[in-house]
Amino acid sequence: MKKNIKKRPWQTSDYICRIRKINMEITPAQVFGVLRTVVHPELKRDIIQLGMVQGLEIDGANVSFALLIGKKESTNIALLKQNCVDALEAAFPGVNVRGNIRVQAKPETEADEPNGLRKVKNIIAVASGKGGVGKSTVAVNLAVALAQQGAKVGLVDADIYGPSIPLMFDLHDARPMANEEQMIVPVEKYGVRLLSIGFFVNAKDALVWRGPMATSALKQMIMEADWGELDYLLIDMPPGTGDIHLAIIQMLALTGAIIVSTPQEVALADALKGMNMFRNEKINVPVLGLVENMAWFTPAELPENKYYIFGNGGCKRLAEKEGVNFLGQIPIVQSVCESGDKGMPAAMDSSSIVGGYFHSLADSVIAAVDYRNSNLAATRKVEVKKK
Ligand SMILES: Nc1ncnc2c1ncn2[C@@H]1O[C@H](COP(=O)(O)OP(=O)(O)OP(=O)(O)O)[C@@H](O)[C@H]1O
Ligand SMILES: [Mg+2]
Repeated sequence: MKKNIKKRPWQTSDYICRIRKINMEITPAQVFGVLRTVVHPELKRDIIQLGMVQGLEIDGANVSFALLIGKKESTNIALLKQNCVDALEAAFPGVNVRGNIRVQAKPETEADEPNGLRKVKNIIAVASGKGGVGKSTVAVNLAVALAQQGAKVGLVDADIYGPSIPLMFDLHDARPMANEEQMIVPVEKYGVRLLSIGFFVNAKDALVWRGPMATSALKQMIMEADWGELDYLLIDMPPGTGDIHLAIIQMLALTGAIIVSTPQEVALADALKGMNMFRNEKINVPVLGLVENMAWFTPAELPENKYYIFGNGGCKRLAEKEGVNFLGQIPIVQSVCESGDKGMPAAMDSSSIVGGYFHSLADSVIAAVDYRNSNLAATRKVEVKKK
């Protein structure tokens, strides 16, 4: 026989909820009041005053909001989040805020960026240590794949002494025009906005430029162009870690760098050097991940066979060892080389096998950029102080 036990009010779940709710009657004004006690460690002002808190939502004991971090607010985000959690937990015992603080990139204010780059959301360098490993091939095909997936994409050829973009987009005779504000209008092909020094000067003329001339030409080309609204601006870097690299990290706040390598030991050693340059504490550009190009060769007549000409799995091992993302593999395919030379990037045909590899690389890059933007502050440009 069932006993008819009458529950007392405080034994019912409804009552418990009501008590919790009453205890947790938190107002936005109170939360803002508490967050005013959280001071930005470098800027020495509170995070409300700095306009860093947005999208506050309070649902019973659950408090969530976004911390807006721009270049100026760049700091140890984990510590700042922890300070917010500590302050709110101390003020409202039982509040649930841990894990509810999102990090969002703060839109740049007008004064922070030159005109033409204001609406560019992410700037990504495609680099390596070693020459000839396929940076330009990866940058071009990645740009086309991202554009085909609906992103607004730009591509800069920063290889002043050996520009590849005019050839790889079949734009030998392209001459960019200036708009009414006297800004350079990038050339558009396959949905990608492009600029290369090869559009302005004869390759032989650029070869004799000294370092400062080359970097100032590059600076003018990037900063005085009207890029418009872009989701991704990719920079196809020259090989090595020289003057141009330094110029780029000084003039642009890079979202991150993608490192391209073949699986060969010598290439991997140079890829590590390239990676370390970006990760150097004075430079501090996040490495979005490593791409293995020329991962294997499959002859057309033996489509099941994979020949690991440069070794097997080298980039994946390096990525794991260095704690960076492994973004994908691209095999050696004759059509990649031929289509590059003809100015018809292989990624244009997403249904082809090799096109598919570039499209899955684009997916990994989109995910890596999103992850980076929600976990790290915007990069600061490197300032070089003269002694
Ligand atoms: N996956 C691939 N399959 C076939 N050929 C490729 C592949 N990747 C690159 N290549 C070819 O290898 C050569 C070098 O590639 P690419 O110019 O992209 O390298 P890079 O790293 O940009 O060189 P540099 O250091 O000179 O700028 C080109 O002829 C290109 O077509
Ligand atoms: Mg190149």
